[in-house]
Amino acid sequence: MINRVKGTQDILNLKLHDFVISLAEKHMQIYNFTKIETPIIEYTKLFTRSLGEQTDVVTKEMFTIPPRNEDEDSITLRPEATASTMRAYFENNVTEKPWKTYSYGAMFRYERPQKGRWRQFEQFNIEVINAPSIMHDAQFIKMLDVFFSEKLNINSYVIKLNFLGKIEDRKIFKDKLYEFLSKNESKICETCKERKEKNILRVFDCKSETCQKIYANSPKLTNYLSEKSLMEWNSLLNTLDILSVSYVVDHKLVRGLDYYNKTVFEFSSDELGAQNAFCGGGRYNLAKEIGEKEEFDSTGCAIGMGRLLMLVEKYQNNLAIPQEKAINIILPMSEQQQELALLLAYNLQSNNICADVLLDTASMTNMMKKANKLGAKNVLILGEVEQEKGTVTVKNMQTGKSETVKQTEVIKYL
Ligand code: HAM
Repeated sequence: MINRVKGTQDILNLKLHDFVISLAEKHMQIYNFTKIETPIIEYTKLFTRSLGEQTDVVTKEMFTIPPRNEDEDSITLRPEATASTMRAYFENNVTEKPWKTYSYGAMFRYERPQKGRWRQFEQFNIEVINAPSIMHDAQFIKMLDVFFSEKLNINSYVIKLNFLGKIEDRKIFKDKLYEFLSKNESKICETCKERKEKNILRVFDCKSETCQKIYANSPKLTNYLSEKSLMEWNSLLNTLDILSVSYVVDHKLVRGLDYYNKTVFEFSSDELGAQNAFCGGGRYNLAKEIGEKEEFDSTGCAIGMGRLLMLVEKYQNNLAIPQEKAINIILPMSEQQQELALLLAYNLQSNNICADVLLDTASMTNMMKKANKLGAKNVLILGEVEQEKGTVTVKNMQTGKSETVKQTEVIKYL
């Protein structure tokens, strides 16, 4: 027996998934976003340059295919969609400003699999590219909040918010943080010691309680913002208040990718367990990393569909999920009635009536059991008598009532 690859999933019923995707797409249309699609494979350098050489995704998690000959570059299965969207923006000379797009599909990260964390997972990715005003972030976060709370009826999440300032702001802060960590060097864990040297802001992601207690007293990034950054941060908070968005300012939220500047946010729920963030994003700069001369701000997020669905499952009773179509099961009583059964099924299906035929002959009792298991609304019995008289016996499985109907009138009857 060959099993599926570690960290991947077989999803055998996509009903809830498709419902959530269709709601999300409708939501995107209301907010004037265009759907796009980019390839699943990209040149590796797109990700190494954009996400940051020292990030976990780049150092440990990429599924990379080496070049087959000297003229080729190595290729990577996309670990996220922001870099690809930005590449597509430039490569296709998009002139819209801002460019409001969404896309969804499989992403790949070589992570240690656990509940809510897979090596292949789906993201619903939303970007507003070339959007200088910080007000875009307020509109964006409100849009997500409305989607999760009003469209999906989820009420068990928190929006964590932080402001990373610009590179210059962070430089001053990083020096202060380095000083602070050096003073506490003997108390922090080995990973934090390493991060202190390589990717200092990531110390805040440490899971160790001891480290977290120490970081409760660490310098706060928002205390080192320039006047302009501080004004933007305050106006973002103010606008979110006016839009009635509830959020928690989390000074330790830094996010795992290097392209973020200014706003960062995460939607998380304790109901999900350890992997509790089901949506994350923020404001970022990527133009120069991709090779453009002029830098500009963009804002965006990705929703982890697997984690979102785990939450939606808990709240699905409050949702108007469309009922599955009522199914009619045709039972030919012997091989002699099978052709007629197929013709009758075709007739029903051509009239948009859901029909299926039980083609593996069995006893009447067994076929009725099977039809019941399939959730049949009606069972249409075709025996010798029916075949001879041009009729069909229709049994309503809810009421148990049977009626003989002319084959030519069965559509009208159903
Ligand atoms: P991210 O935080 O790396 O951000 O991923 C966003 C979401 O994808 C996470 O909050 C989580 O729900 C889901 N996710 C990530 N890794 C996994 C995994 N291994 N298994 C299951 N779900 C996972 C980004 O990817 C950014 N590109 C978001 C963004 C868009 N920022 C700006 N624009």
